Amino acid sequence: MAKPKVFVTRIIPDEGLAMVQHATDAEIWPGELPPPYEVLLEKVRGRDAVLTLLTDKVDVGMMDAAGPSLKVISQMAVGYDNIDVAAATARRLPVGYTPGVLTETTADFAWTLLMAAARRVVEGDAYTRQGRWKTWGPTLLMGPDVNGATLGIVGLGRIGTAMARRAAGFDMCVLYYDPDRHPAQEQALGVKYADFETLLSQSDFVTLHTPLNGQTRHLVGAAQLRLMKRSAILINTARGPLVDPEALYQALKGGVIAYGALDVTEPEPIEMTSPLLTLPNLIIVPHIASASLQTRNKMATMAVANLLAGLQGERLPFCVNPQVYG
Ligand code: DGY
Repeated sequence: MAKPKVFVTRIIPDEGLAMVQHATDAEIWPGELPPPYEVLLEKVRGRDAVLTLLTDKVDVGMMDAAGPSLKVISQMAVGYDNIDVAAATARRLPVGYTPGVLTETTADFAWTLLMAAARRVVEGDAYTRQGRWKTWGPTLLMGPDVNGATLGIVGLGRIGTAMARRAAGFDMCVLYYDPDRHPAQEQALGVKYADFETLLSQSDFVTLHTPLNGQTRHLVGAAQLRLMKRSAILINTARGPLVDPEALYQALKGGVIAYGALDVTEPEPIEMTSPLLTLPNLIIVPHIASASLQTRNKMATMAVANLLAGLQGERLPFCVNPQVYG
């Protein structure tokens, strides 16, 4: 029997790659960069399934181009703001994603950025490599303590909760803001609910863990940055457009807040002409918070498991739009 026809939009980690190549007739896009949109439309034509990444635009045009053979869209990510889920649901197309497996790894990395920004690790490394380390300096590269500080978590979902657990080890006071209150977590984690403005004004560190949607785009802009302490540090490992980049530039340049650390930017990749790249008090890394060997392999195998379930007409183990089954 002919194997189902699948398009995979990039080379994924080995285990998942082997699974999809074994079970399907898969074409794997070999480029380091994603297939351009026009090429994606060509490539998905007549496929039974598509395995996508957050860098692919999965819209009505793409679903139309794939045509009626398409049975499942499986995304190797927990975030799916690149996918028109409503359009997929209208076509009764299940959309898979990879929640849970990257929670701890992403929180580890958000914590890495928090510590690196507070203790100026990137600046210290550059200082050393530039041959500027002449002696032990009593005021050299000082930064705020993390222990005992106040951490503001925006979004107490899986990753936000994992951040709160880490904060306990640093004797931090933890505030959280979320559209929904979580009394059980407040008890279990010892975190306190605060409205967004209070969280911004009282936190020494603000870390974003909320999905990107119509309500959260530019959640942090000039007005919000002005509410923060002048000594505050902002960490974003969620989605770039949660933060207005121009407002962040002005705030970091003008001392409205002290420091920033971004794993995600708007746009991605950041343009090399972006003034953000000129700031010494900002760390920027290329969307790698989930990039541990174990986690990326788990994400890949989970995405392939979703894809294979969809091809077999089974319920996806991790489905963004379970309404398609009801
Ligand atoms: C996701 O999965 O949405 C992350 O941004 C990348 O791991």
